[in-house]
Amino acid sequence: MTRFIEEDTIYKVLPEINDASAKEKQGGARPPFWEMVFWWTRKPLIGARCVIAASLLPAGAGEEEFLRNMRLRGVKKTPHNYNPEIPPSWDSYFKGKKMLDPFAGFGSIPLEGARLGLDVTASELLPTAYIFLKAVLEYPAKYGRKLVEDVEKWGQWITEQLKNDPDIKELYDDDVAVYIGTWEVKCPTCGRWTPLIGNHWLARVKDNKGKYKRLAFMKPIADGDEVRIDIVDINRLVKDRKIKLPKEDISEYAKVSGQKITLEKDGKIYFSENVPESNIHPRRSTAICLLCGNPIRFVDENGEHHVEGKNMEWYVKWALKKYHEGDERFARQRLLVKVKVVDGDLIFEPCTEEDNAKLERAKERVRELMERGDSDIPREEISPYEMRSIWVLAYGFNKWYHLFNPRQLLTLVKLVKLIREVGKKVEEEKIREGWSEEDSFAYAEAVATYLSVGLCKFADFNSVSNRWNPGWLKFEETLSVRGIAMMWSWVDTNPFAGFTGTYSRSLENSLGSLQYLTSKFSPQTQQRITDIENNSKEIKVIQDDATTLSKLNDEKYDIIVTDPPYADDVPYTELSDFYYVWLKRALSDSDGRKLLPRFHKEAFFKPFGRAWREIKTQWQEFAIREVSTNPGRFMNEDDRNRKAEQHFRNLLTQSFITMAKHLKDDGIIATYYAHTSPEAWAALLDAGWKGAKLRVTNAIPLLTESAQRVVGRGKLALDTSIVVVWRKGVEGEKEINEIKDDVVIAATKRTLHLLKYINEGHYDLKGRDIMVGAMASSLSIVTQYERILGPMGEIDTNTLLLNYIYPYTVRGMIAALTETFNIPEIRNPYASYYLVVKAFFGATSNGKKFERFKPTADDLRILGIALGIDAKYLLEYNLVKKLKKSGKEYILLEPEKKEPSYLEEYLQFERGIVPSEPELRNPVDALHLLEYWARTLPQSHFNEKLSHLKTLNLQYVEEAINLAKILSKVLKDYDPEKHLASELVAKVKGEKLEVL
Ligand SMILES: C[S@@+](CC[C@H](N)C(=O)[O-])C[C@H]1O[C@@H](n2cnc3c(N)ncnc32)[C@H](O)[C@@H]1O
Ligand SMILES: [Zn+2]
Repeated sequence: MTRFIEEDTIYKVLPEINDASAKEKQGGARPPFWEMVFWWTRKPLIGARCVIAASLLPAGAGEEEFLRNMRLRGVKKTPHNYNPEIPPSWDSYFKGKKMLDPFAGFGSIPLEGARLGLDVTASELLPTAYIFLKAVLEYPAKYGRKLVEDVEKWGQWITEQLKNDPDIKELYDDDVAVYIGTWEVKCPTCGRWTPLIGNHWLARVKDNKGKYKRLAFMKPIADGDEVRIDIVDINRLVKDRKIKLPKEDISEYAKVSGQKITLEKDGKIYFSENVPESNIHPRRSTAICLLCGNPIRFVDENGEHHVEGKNMEWYVKWALKKYHEGDERFARQRLLVKVKVVDGDLIFEPCTEEDNAKLERAKERVRELMERGDSDIPREEISPYEMRSIWVLAYGFNKWYHLFNPRQLLTLVKLVKLIREVGKKVEEEKIREGWSEEDSFAYAEAVATYLSVGLCKFADFNSVSNRWNPGWLKFEETLSVRGIAMMWSWVDTNPFAGFTGTYSRSLENSLGSLQYLTSKFSPQTQQRITDIENNSKEIKVIQDDATTLSKLNDEKYDIIVTDPPYADDVPYTELSDFYYVWLKRALSDSDGRKLLPRFHKEAFFKPFGRAWREIKTQWQEFAIREVSTNPGRFMNEDDRNRKAEQHFRNLLTQSFITMAKHLKDDGIIATYYAHTSPEAWAALLDAGWKGAKLRVTNAIPLLTESAQRVVGRGKLALDTSIVVVWRKGVEGEKEINEIKDDVVIAATKRTLHLLKYINEGHYDLKGRDIMVGAMASSLSIVTQYERILGPMGEIDTNTLLLNYIYPYTVRGMIAALTETFNIPEIRNPYASYYLVVKAFFGATSNGKKFERFKPTADDLRILGIALGIDAKYLLEYNLVKKLKKSGKEYILLEPEKKEPSYLEEYLQFERGIVPSEPELRNPVDALHLLEYWARTLPQSHFNEKLSHLKTLNLQYVEEAINLAKILSKVLKDYDPEKHLASELVAKVKGEKLEVL
């Protein structure tokens, strides 16, 4: 049975799915459970929902009904806030169907599978993701509201205990929400401590009209042998009449230009001062001492400082490395500013010696724990090779605890111990209530897991690798930058304050997530989870390697929907060790010095004879099994880039073979894939088609990243994922020549359908959609066969793509246009290039204003491959131009206006064509010349020019006129070339075209 996702008509609903997905990725509309803890590359729920449903529904399911039932229509909020509807007539497609996601990540896909009422299995390689999946999928479904209440109750208990802990109590002041701190080094020139401050801004907040309403910064002052911090709070100064403004509200006066703040109105200046520049420049290996003003540069092996140096280490790196080795003579941490919340506003104050003494006191406590060999300080090694994304490694942070200042560390360790205690208390409580031992343990595990996820969130907020954000008056999570960065103004929070990032708030996030997950799970309307507890629906979370799936036995699935990692996108294993070291502690037992298995023991320990051995880090155990390209993991081998690439391809292929094994014979696999280069397609096809003997039945571009990246005129190379639909049934072999026509015809047919949808006017399909759609049709022909043969035998996938699939696909797309308008074939590659870009990528823009098409280097390459032209000729013939000399963005040199004076300059200066002495390099030159003459010359004069041009190159002129015929029809009204082409067509026919 052909499914909806395999049909052309899926493209009719695509724009609405993509619009909703774009909204979902934006701040306010994100699924609340994403706030629980950060995970990389999570996919929008609505997209996942639609892919799953369309993989189960038969072709002809009805677009209107689909959109309504997916809640893309007829709802007020973002669709993910509503459960999908399964009308009785759809029951047979969903009830009892089984779905698998072997690369489940944070669970967007299985969650939507569950909401559609399927039996769902979610699997992940990494312990961290596995535990998060349990928190997302399993516990809410199993325990519902009860769990919400218990997590809240025990979370409060922990907060109370922590507050009353004598060690912690003395470390925080009740009235301080956060402290902003940084690193200091001992100046090698003057021998005094100087802070290194990356950003002096404390507040730089705009109101919704874009005016500055809150401004403050810190000002370091050399004071004897010390650097004192002054606070310059503009709003405060105005309020206290130290700056005399006619009004207290600064927004009408405040201007900020670079680092300069000015308060002025009507030429009167009330205040003007520069915010100090950063005194640390890692890229230039320079810092400036704030006391003596000397540069801090290089250090030799004897610890001597040098202002100039070759092959020497930067002093700052050296000093921090020493610090982490335990030699604290050259670097230290210092708190600079404390932030209080009073009546909803922030008050900034310089930190005192007493504040800094608290860091020291915490350090004492930590030292005691270290000396005792306490199990709860994460001394595990950070993956030493992962310099690509764990940038702090360069500063000697090589153990996970290095990422926290002593106070942060002590608080985290205390939380670990408290969560461990809660686990025991909950278990005892349940046993006392008469639950079985097994059930009590399982429930305690769920509660402890939620509390531990809250701990991960808190750690993410509370390290020396986070950042104060003066624009939003909040601080940013450690992992929010897709890596772990070296920060020169980090934040240390009071765990109890009412401020984003504190422990109290992290718990609230966990609770909010649980509430979302427990109320929105069931397939029918807004039932609560408790209503579906008796449902037979199964949600299974397993920890398994997608390349083997050894825990599944012979299980077969109706659909497999999954989102494997993309080559070198994110080092999941190494980065999520950040969570691993905390989760492991809070969820395991401890004898004081050593961790012992308790909750999720299979995730943190592995069987070793009859005992369990602790898995120290994920990178040591799992990195080599992660499906990705990561040369660092092959650090000690030659040729590691190639090895890493080959490794990725092997694992991807293995995982496809394994998926095929677990797929029912008439089942569907839908895989997300974010890379769209020919090489990425080749890797994917080698894995799915060649490796697992699956054929491609369709592909759709699905928006998966934030909306800004795809606005404007559609791009060829996608910022989106492509969902490829696969089925079993690959057999036999064919000569490429035998199927060539079928391939072109398939691409033509698909393009015609998509153009028809566009013409029907309801659908905002874009150029990239057409390209992907046409390509999918080509692939569906080719991948039916095991082997495609050329004159030299079997054609490898790469060659097949480059020499046949891309060219045939684009030929099919062009044929759709020429057939529609009954025009002879367009043969010239430059004419084809111009036509494809204008007709598909220009004419399908959803903007209302004309803007030249801006292809990327990849776009040029892909179309170049398809049309057999080298991008350098597109430049040489002035068809495209580089936007910036060094950049990778180009711009299509199409006419932007239709005024005669503009056209003349355009021809001469942009296209390099002299109308008085025309030379034709290709049909596009002829087109633009003729458009110009048609616009500016009377009929008879035009006819003369036309005849003359024909003597230069008849074929070019004929193709130019054919181009004009198509462009006059397909371009949007706001494209000036639509009018130019129309006028040309009319002039060629000798007709008069009135008023343009
Ligand atoms: C692109 S992410 C999935 C994101 C997910 N769709 C979501 O919305 O949250 C890919 C996931 O595959 C996991 N992974 C990598 N190699 C794996 C393997 N061999 N087996 C299972 N999972 C693996 C990674 O840990 C990562 O979480
Ligand atoms: Zn100095």
